[in-house]
Amino acid sequence: MTADTTLAPAAPGALRIGPHAVWPPVVLAPMAGITNAPFRTLCREFSGGKGLFVSEMITTRALVERNDKTMQLIHFDATETPRSIQLYGVDPATVGKAVRMIVDEDLADHIDLNFGCPVPKVTRKGGGSALPYKRPLLRAILREAVGNAGELPVTIKMRKGIDDDHLTYLDAGRIAVEEGVTAVALHGRTAAQHYGGTADWDAVARLKEHVPEIPVLGNGDIWCAEDALRMMRETGCDGVVVGRGCLGRPWLFGDLVAAFETPDAPPAAFGFARVAAIMRRHAELLGLWLGDEARGVIDFRKHVPWYTKGFAVGSEARRALASASSLAEMDEQFAGLDLTQPWPAGADGPRGRTAPGKRVVLPDGWLDDPFTCEALSEDAESATSGG
Ligand SMILES: Cc1cc2nc3c(=O)[nH]c(=O)nc-3n(C[C@H](O)[C@H](O)[C@H](O)COP(=O)(O)O)c2cc1C
Repeated sequence: MTADTTLAPAAPGALRIGPHAVWPPVVLAPMAGITNAPFRTLCREFSGGKGLFVSEMITTRALVERNDKTMQLIHFDATETPRSIQLYGVDPATVGKAVRMIVDEDLADHIDLNFGCPVPKVTRKGGGSALPYKRPLLRAILREAVGNAGELPVTIKMRKGIDDDHLTYLDAGRIAVEEGVTAVALHGRTAAQHYGGTADWDAVARLKEHVPEIPVLGNGDIWCAEDALRMMRETGCDGVVVGRGCLGRPWLFGDLVAAFETPDAPPAAFGFARVAAIMRRHAELLGLWLGDEARGVIDFRKHVPWYTKGFAVGSEARRALASASSLAEMDEQFAGLDLTQPWPAGADGPRGRTAPGKRVVLPDGWLDDPFTCEALSEDAESATSGG
């Protein structure tokens, strides 16, 4: 495939996230369990350091309580700049404290807030994608976050709403502007859709029209660099956020930079030898980060199906790779595979979660009144993943 230059945005320019100029205007979506420091390092290596790479989601309560695992998750490589952290919180005071801690201890350069999580155990308590329905609570959280952030830019990432009858993104965008949020990202699905169907890029365009004061980032179903250019052209958004397209394909960030900078640059089409080397490096980086090779290789297991998608690897070898506990075991498995295979056409297109909609579980009476809200219980913050 060749990048179609006719799709290039009319006025290409850096995306401004407060003091940070992001060029090209591409952002690695926060993905719990995925976008840790090693994965961001790989993506940045392919992009030449260009773009913005958001951390895994960090719960504000765990951060202020200095939970050990959380302190590990907020680790940034010494060369990473700007350091971008995603927070998830439901209590305005705790969000404020977490933001203040980040500022006081110089833990990051940009804070993104997650209002997109569709996981039932979160929405059942009114958190995640359920939260923007309660306008005053959303406003209170944003006020605390921005009020404590000092010079640090605060952005938000959200879905369209709970379901088609309860859309929240336009109101949330307006509240974000009023509370001093720097930019908003929209995943063009409702919580009810989970990852099913196709993302609604028209909603991104509507949000852009609704909040012309701040940058709007479009998110959902960008599977190749051409999709990113097309989303910008079709919606007028200021930048794009790319998630599942990078799973097992950190070099997509190289393609994105090339598409924005070099007309007609072909996307990378790595053969299996190169992909195997990248897999090994990913596992190795995870081991260095976790301080233990075996833990790194074990954490890497979930990435095996994504990296090997479309390659003639066979289910047995795939299973063996996904149960390796050392780099030597991975090498052994690779040695038995055909490393001369070219990039398979079947590896393009959707990857990762595509599960269709589920009923959104909400607290009793949640939808009765968007303008009143009791404080949410602490366990509304027990989120582990999602957006
Ligand atoms: C494994 C996984 C974990 C995710 N974790 C988060 C998260 O922690 N915070 C968040 O805002 N979104 C999260 N998301 C949602 C993505 O950031 C993104 O909005 C979504 O995947 C749609 O974009 P895409 O079509 O480019 O994948 C997650 C998605 C996946 C697949």
